[in-house]
Amino acid sequence: MDKKFYVTTPIYYVNDQPHIGHTCTTLAADIIARYHRLLGEKVFFLTGTDEHGAKVAQAAKKAGLLPQDFCDQVSQSFQNIWPQLNIKYHYFVRTTNPDHKKIVQAMLQKIYRRGDIYQAQYQGYYCVGCEKFITETELVNGRCPLHPKQKIQKQSEKNYFFKLSAYVPSLIKAIEDESDPHHYEIIPESKKREVLSKLKVGVADLSVSRAHVAWGIPVPWDEKQTIYVWFDALLNYYSALEINHQKKFWPANVHVVAKDILWFHTVIWEAMLLSAGLSLPKTIFIHSFYTVAGQKMSKSLGNVITPHQLLEKFGIDGTRYLIAANFPYSSDRDVSWQKFDEKFNADLANGLGNLVARIAKLCENSQLKFEPAKPGWDRRYQKYLAKYQLEPALKLVWQWISRADQQVNQNQVWQQKGAALKKSLQSLVADIRQIAYHLQPFVPETAAKIAKQFAGPAIKTQPPLFPRLK
Ligand code: MSP
Repeated sequence: MDKKFYVTTPIYYVNDQPHIGHTCTTLAADIIARYHRLLGEKVFFLTGTDEHGAKVAQAAKKAGLLPQDFCDQVSQSFQNIWPQLNIKYHYFVRTTNPDHKKIVQAMLQKIYRRGDIYQAQYQGYYCVGCEKFITETELVNGRCPLHPKQKIQKQSEKNYFFKLSAYVPSLIKAIEDESDPHHYEIIPESKKREVLSKLKVGVADLSVSRAHVAWGIPVPWDEKQTIYVWFDALLNYYSALEINHQKKFWPANVHVVAKDILWFHTVIWEAMLLSAGLSLPKTIFIHSFYTVAGQKMSKSLGNVITPHQLLEKFGIDGTRYLIAANFPYSSDRDVSWQKFDEKFNADLANGLGNLVARIAKLCENSQLKFEPAKPGWDRRYQKYLAKYQLEPALKLVWQWISRADQQVNQNQVWQQKGAALKKSLQSLVADIRQIAYHLQPFVPETAAKIAKQFAGPAIKTQPPLFPRLK
């Protein structure tokens, strides 16, 4: 049987246009998906948009549109941007899809029948920006720390609650005990520790319905209430497979998300699945944020850089490289146009582009013939990608690039002749092939161009891969 691999991104809220914060997550998922396809696995890569809830309803109202029309419009801009970045997902899920809605209702009903849902009075704070119930202790100056510009609302209403607290012992065991049948991995380790310590303090039950949010999926047995947007949203990972008749991919091998939605993806989601009797994801990979001058890049702070802006300046692979090489893994990453420009010139125009041009020229001048050969995966690179460490994997490739460059200089290849020249060039051509091979998941078009140019037997010069920015 073919090995299967299921990778997902968060489904993005349609209150916002895509920026490079969203892009880094979707691109990471694309790189992971491409890598696993190259390993010969059957891959299902899912992304989409999250379209219900108070936040989206408010944004639609502000835009003067009906919620569904507004969702159609913004969802389209997410659907449009990914192919422009050569991101190849298999399905784009939308939570306003009628099939998704039915599946969510059926799942809530199942959990209800199982006795995990009860009615009670909710009293407390709700941050519409986060679409999240928050406790008084989480407030900073009376506001949500992630949405300091928005007033926080105090609410009191009758809701349906999910017995999240009942699952805490099972979740702790599933995270800590590798032999537990429900074991799941949280990467990086620091996030796993954070989740465990919060779980050990104790967790309150979760309200899974809203009495005054009309833009949502009705609770099947009480149509006056709508299903809490996060309960609806998380189920996209399941509904998308059912809609596509691809349940063989269940459960996910990896959910890629950022730290803002850590709790939903490492606690609430798994408790829902345990209650519904479904198997749990294998890994949740949590990355950090892009920041601009120290502040999280987000629409509400008005400091976004868009993928369109990067594409215009750096092209598809330039953009893919800059995002992956600056990936905010376990700590936030401050980005700026100046840093992107410098990195483009140093690593792509000078580093990779220059080396490829230099060696192609030497090969062409030598008039030698080079046997075609296919490289294999490097073990260290594979170890990095197994832990989703994109930047270290790229750094390794750039070490090979500078090593090859040093080799040219040390041996003064341009002065070599006969057997010595042949030996040097054969080794350099093997290096370039190895470099191109490992660049495939990251910069697929560039990798293919280099592989073609260096396929042999005759190797010729080509126009520069990444012309230097002025
Ligand atoms: N709709 C929910 C997710 C539901 S998933 C079942 C949501 N949407 S969101 O539009 O706010 O997207 C949040 C995600 O976008 C983050 O987890 C991250 O993947 C990405 N990012 C948004 N801003 C980001 C940065 N500034 N930096 C890095 N990633 C960022 O939450």
